[in-house]
Amino acid sequence: MKLDEIKKMDQDYLFQNYARQEICFDHGEGEILWDIEGRRYIDLVAGIAVNSLGYAHPAITKAVCEQAKRLIHVSNLYLVKEQAEAAQAIVSICPPPLEDVLFVNSGAEANEAALKLAAKHTGRTRVVSALNSFHGRTAAALSATGQTKYQNGFEPLLSSAFDFVDYGDAEQLKSAVTKDTAAIILEPIQGEGGVLPAGEEFFRTARDLCDDSGALFICDEVQTGLCRTGRFFGFQHYGVVPDIITLAKALANGFPIGACVASKEVATSFQPGSHGTTFGGNPLGTVVAKTVIETMKKERLDERARNLGGRWMQDLRSFANSSNGRIKEVRGKGFMIGLEMGDEAKMLQKCAFSNGILVNVCAGKVVRLIPPLILDESSIKAFNNTVENFLAQ
Ligand SMILES: Cc1ncc(COP(=O)(O)O)c(C=O)c1O
Repeated sequence: MKLDEIKKMDQDYLFQNYARQEICFDHGEGEILWDIEGRRYIDLVAGIAVNSLGYAHPAITKAVCEQAKRLIHVSNLYLVKEQAEAAQAIVSICPPPLEDVLFVNSGAEANEAALKLAAKHTGRTRVVSALNSFHGRTAAALSATGQTKYQNGFEPLLSSAFDFVDYGDAEQLKSAVTKDTAAIILEPIQGEGGVLPAGEEFFRTARDLCDDSGALFICDEVQTGLCRTGRFFGFQHYGVVPDIITLAKALANGFPIGACVASKEVATSFQPGSHGTTFGGNPLGTVVAKTVIETMKKERLDERARNLGGRWMQDLRSFANSSNGRIKEVRGKGFMIGLEMGDEAKMLQKCAFSNGILVNVCAGKVVRLIPPLILDESSIKAFNNTVENFLAQ
């Protein structure tokens, strides 16, 4: 099928709720994608921080094929061996007391579960979140999202149980938490908001406030989790452990899955009937999740992201320093890097595209690099050359 035909079918049969680029991919390997016309691209987007092991990773392909032949879905009415094994794998990379896992199907659902769990556990009614955050598109997750552009048109469906503070402002956080606060929910690095790290003091204050007030600290690790930032989890950069973390995106390298991880004490506030989902934790998704975690451990992808990502950021900072302010800032951690560029972000994206490199622009002005964690150094060099040439124009 030709690109024009696919475009027409998209318009004829699909909701037009995405601003799609006119390109259609056929297959991939490692960090390389090929489109239906045979063009090759270095993918520094990874399905928005999803394909951390790259495309067609042999361990993932094997896990999907073998499990699909045995059992794709079975109800949570029964014991599910693969689900228990995936939970054990997740707990093996979590610091105590994060030791119980609830599986869902997406990042928004993981946050939805975490927020319900915090309300049930504390018996309280309010949640503190950060401005400029992104937590997903379901009702509670969207309510927790501190960006009105996503909420406009959906009020009063969304509840007014959320209090927002400037991300990074510890003093505002102190004033926002009250005896009614069930939870503080934060991303360790705001992803959609423009690759903005929280800072240690902000996270430590959140932890202390929760300890003092009895609220629960929820870390949204949907984008930052699973080696993306050079640690298994983003919160590990700040020396604190949350009460609940939420995962999705990279967890099954593209197979839809999400998870909410909590201490046993908190997890027991959900009893049979409190929460659930038909597909959550199905054998196929959880076999893949277990394989992803085993592969990340075996290939030391946390270290790889930390070392290569750290060096890459240094290169990019040196370009920024001699860019006459065209690259205003380079920030992030590991393989989650943002180049703040203002109006030129989209131009650099276009220039990269014409050189066969895919990058994402978030918050309108930040070029975001969130590649497969297995990417080859030659792909990093290719992007660096593009930046150098772009700045020379
Ligand atoms: C930090 C964060 N939380 C939640 C979500 C929502 O995840 P999903 O799109 O799987 O519902 C996203 C998606 O970009 C995210 O970046």
